[in-house]
Order: sequence, then structure tokens, then C-alpha cells
Amino acid sequence: MRRSVIRGSGHYLPERIVENSWFEERLDTSDEWIRSRTGIERRHFAAEGQTTSDLGIRAARAALDDAGLVADDIDGIVVATSTPDLTFPSVGTMVQAGLGIKRGFAYDVQAVCAGFVFALANADAMIRAGMAERILVIGAETFSRIMDWTDRSTCVLFGDGAGAVVLEAQDAAGTSNDRGILAADLNSDGTHRDLLYVDGGVSSTGTAGQLRMQGNLVFRHAVEKLSKTAATSLGKAGLTDKDVDWLVPHQANLRIITSTAQKMGLPMEKVVLTVADHGNTSAASIPLALSVANQQGRFKQGDLLVTEAIGGGLSWGSVILRW
Ligand code: COA
Repeated sequence: MRRSVIRGSGHYLPERIVENSWFEERLDTSDEWIRSRTGIERRHFAAEGQTTSDLGIRAARAALDDAGLVADDIDGIVVATSTPDLTFPSVGTMVQAGLGIKRGFAYDVQAVCAGFVFALANADAMIRAGMAERILVIGAETFSRIMDWTDRSTCVLFGDGAGAVVLEAQDAAGTSNDRGILAADLNSDGTHRDLLYVDGGVSSTGTAGQLRMQGNLVFRHAVEKLSKTAATSLGKAGLTDKDVDWLVPHQANLRIITSTAQKMGLPMEKVVLTVADHGNTSAASIPLALSVANQQGRFKQGDLLVTEAIGGGLSWGSVILRW
């Protein structure tokens, strides 16, 4: 059978780093509150005029370099984002043009913070169906553009950035020892719309809008749903928590990550953490974490990775893959 193996990864973070102290000067908040409630210490914000596709192009180039490939080797591009440059065309096509690719397909997937997990599962399905040999899967966001800077309960949480992986078709035996994506579990429940949303859009207000969140309610859903989806997709792969070498979670809140790891019986040494330095970069957070950990040489070939995320919708899911 065919499996989708990660051949390379890369990321890009905007140059401007904003420490928690920046918010202390502007809002009734403190570095201590932000660190202790979220684990976030700093985040990157895109420069004026720097768009989501700019970040995505840089991450894609880094992933191609890491894979030892050139742009023409790519058959398709799937970008997970909720903060596109324009309403259309897709960020995917902008990345495609930026890389100088004129063949294959490019489009966006929108599942907010769960976007990269959805995009990865989507690209994997296309590769296994024989629709492409190599797909660039990118998570790229500029959440700084949809912040209400007067709302201390949201604006301290998010950051900008992009991460990318090159997924490549490889022949495999069809067992849980194969390299590549072994299973995925995707879920949505649109009745929770009001817990986390942006209060503007093309067909409603005609504006981009700003992020609104009932953080404590989202927190409760996250803790419950993330360990459940991880168990579901591990089960689909015929594996258990004990087989996991690395948890690469969505980086929203250290307390959510810690509690998910605890429920899975994983020590924190097996968890990739970037939330302190990146904040919540929505769909970019998992590929950023993957790329940072890969650059640090933390993954060995054959390691079993679990990625999981939850976001607006609500939408949540997980992907099991062997490095
Ligand atoms: N600085 C200081 N105080 C703050 C604050 C800030 N930046 N933000 C909120 N507060 C205050 C609130 O106003 C509230 O004050 P009150 O009790 O006087 O009303 C108090 O802190 C507690 O608020 P609450 O929302 O219950 O805090 P919390 O412990 O749930 O932490 C979050 C808030 C947002 C950090 C937390 O709920 C969270 O991380 N939720 C999940 C968010 C998430 O992951 N979203 C993305 C999913 S993709």
C-alpha cells in the first residue's frame, strides 16, 4: 500500500518578538498572569505589510530545502489558515506562485486551530488515492490581524508564524510499523460556534472582524476532546499510548497540553513544547513545533508521533504518524 511519509519540514517566524511585558504597558495584565495561566512568554508578530502567504512561502522553501527537493517536485499545496491575505484567491495559490510552480493544485483548508491536522489528513487521503506523489502541507497564520487589542483575555494568547512539511508517497507493508501517516481522526460540532469565533466576515459584516472567545469553556472542551481523539486515532492504527514516542500538540496553553499528556500517561520529556516562544499560532502551531523539534534532531526515524488540535467550530482531531 501507499503511505504518506514526511520527507522534510521547515518554518518561518516573523522577526518581531513581543514579550509579555509589552502587554503590561498597555493592559491590566502581568507577565506572571500570562505565564502561569498559559505558559506563554513571548510571540512573534508579522511586520506591517507582511502577509500570511509571505510567511507560508518562507516555511515552504525551508521544508523543500530540508527534503532536498525543488519546487517543481511538488504536485500540490494545501494551506491551513484562517487568516488569508485576501478573501480569494487562496493562500495556497499565492504560495504556489511565490515558489514559481505552475502545475498541480493549490488550495486552503479552514479548520482554525485544528487546520493543520485537517490539512494533513486531507493531503494523506489524496496521496493514498494516487492523486499526488508529493504535497506541501502548510499551516500559516497572522492572528495579530484579528486581535482586539483592548481584550486582555484574548490578545495576549496569539502569535504569527508558519510551518510546512513535504508529504511524499512511499510503498509500505500496511502495518503499524510502517513509516508515514498511520491513522487520523477528525471531528466537528458546529453547535459550539459562539465559544470561539471572529465577529466579522464577507457575507455578514463585510469586515475581517476580531476574535472572540469564552476561554474557560474552550479550555474544558480541549481537555476532554484532545485525549479522546488521540486514543481514537491510536486505536485505528492498532497502537496504544504506550507506543507513543512524541506528542506534538497544538500549542495553545501549557495547562491544556500538560493535562492531555497526563491523561495519555506520557511524561513531559516526550512532549514537544513551543508555546512559551510562539504563543498560539493557530493552524501554524503544529508544523512549527514539528519543524523546530526536527531541526533540534529530536526525532529518530521510526519514532511514533501523535499530533492533536482543537479550535473554533469547534473542530478537533489527531493524526498518528511514524517519522
Ligand atoms: N491578564 C489578567 N487577567 C486576565 C487576563 C489577562 N491577560 N485575561 C483574563 N483575565 C482575568 C479574567 O478577566 C477573569 O477575571 P475575573 O475573575 O475578575 O472575571 C480571570 O482572569 C479568570 O478568567 P478565566 O477566563 O476564567 O481564566 P482562565 O484560567 O480560564 O484562563 C485562558 C484564561 C484564556 C488562558 C484559558 O481559559 C485558556 O487558555 N482557554 C483555552 C483557550 C484556547 O486554548 N483557545 C484556543 C483554542 S485553539
